[in-house]
Amino acid sequence: MASTTGLRTLTPDDVVRNLQALRQRQPVKYWAFYSSQLGGVVTDPALMVVPFDDHMVHRGHGVFDTAAIVGGRIYDLDAHLDRFFRSAKLSKLALPGTRDELRRIIIDTVAASAQREGSIRYWISAGPGSFGLAPAADAQPGFFVMIFGGLAYPKAWYSEGLRVMTTTYPIKPPLYAVTKSTNYLPNVLMQMEASEHGVDNGVFIDEAGNVGESSNMNVAFVTADGVFRHPKFDHILSGCTSLRVLDLAPALVERGVIKAVEVCDIPVAEARAAREMGLIGSSVKVAPIVAWDGRPIGDGKPGPITAALRELLEEDMRSGSRLTGVPYAR
Ligand SMILES: Cc1ncc(COP(=O)(O)O)c(C=O)c1O
Repeated sequence: MASTTGLRTLTPDDVVRNLQALRQRQPVKYWAFYSSQLGGVVTDPALMVVPFDDHMVHRGHGVFDTAAIVGGRIYDLDAHLDRFFRSAKLSKLALPGTRDELRRIIIDTVAASAQREGSIRYWISAGPGSFGLAPAADAQPGFFVMIFGGLAYPKAWYSEGLRVMTTTYPIKPPLYAVTKSTNYLPNVLMQMEASEHGVDNGVFIDEAGNVGESSNMNVAFVTADGVFRHPKFDHILSGCTSLRVLDLAPALVERGVIKAVEVCDIPVAEARAAREMGLIGSSVKVAPIVAWDGRPIGDGKPGPITAALRELLEEDMRSGSRLTGVPYAR
C-alpha cells in the first residue's frame, strides 16, 4: 500500500518476501533457530527474527553463550551453561525456563538442524514491551538458539601464527568483563582496530598493567623457563576452553613438556618475554601468536607447547568425557 510520503505500509506477506530477498542477497549458514517467542524452530533464515522492542535489541540487555557441535555431539555444554546462567544472574535476567528445560531445547534444536559440525549460540533476553531503561513490567524473557556454521579462521593462523596489538580501547570493568552479555562494543572496536592496523587481533591490558584477554578469546603464555601461565579470571571472561586447557595441561607437566601450570596476574613486561603466546577459545581452540606490537614472541615462530595444548584439546573434543549426544532423526 502506498502512503502520501512514498513509504509503503507492508502486509505480512510483503514482510516475509522482503526478509527472504534480504537473505538471498546475503546468504548465511544458519540451519535452525529456536525462539520462545515464535514458539518453536524455524529453518528458513528469513524467519530467524527477534522483536525490535526486545530489551536485548535496543539496550543490550541479554546474555549469550556458544558451544561447538563436533562429530554430532556437543562439546562441554554444561560448562557453557554454567557461565550462561551466571551471566543471566549478574544481568538480573529472569529465566525463561529451568536449566534442564533450556538444555533440552538446545539439544533438540541441534537435532532439528541435522548438522554434525557447527556452532550453537543461545541467548536469554529481557523481553519486549517498551523502549524504557528497565524492561517492561510484563516483559516475558526470551530464549533463542541458533545453529550456524561457526567462526572460521585461516589455516595460516596455526601454521604461521597470528600477530596481535595492544588495543587502545579500555578493558571492560571486571563486572562487565566476567558477564557474557550482548554488549560487545569494546571487543568489536578492538577487532576492527586490529584489522585497520593489519594485524589479526587485539589484547586488552588492565589498569594495573596486567594482560587481560582478546576480542573473543583468552590469551596465555609459556614463560622462558617453561611454565604455562594464564591470567586470573577475576577481570576477564572465564573461557570454557581455557578452563578445560588448564585441566588438561598437567598431562604435559607429567610428560616433562612444561614445568608447571599457573593462573596468576601477568604483567605486560613479563608477558612480552614469553617463549610462546597463544589465543584460546571455543572457535580458535589454541592458536600461536608470533608477534605482539610488531615484536616477536620467542623466536617469532609457532611453538611446540601451543601445538601440544591444541592436540590435547582436539582429542578431548573428539573423544573426551565432556560430549553430549544429540537425538538426530537421521
Ligand atoms: C571476551 C571473551 N573472552 C574469552 C572468550 C573465550 O571463551 P570460550 O573459551 O568459552 O569460547 C570469549 C568467547 O566466548 C570471549 O567472548
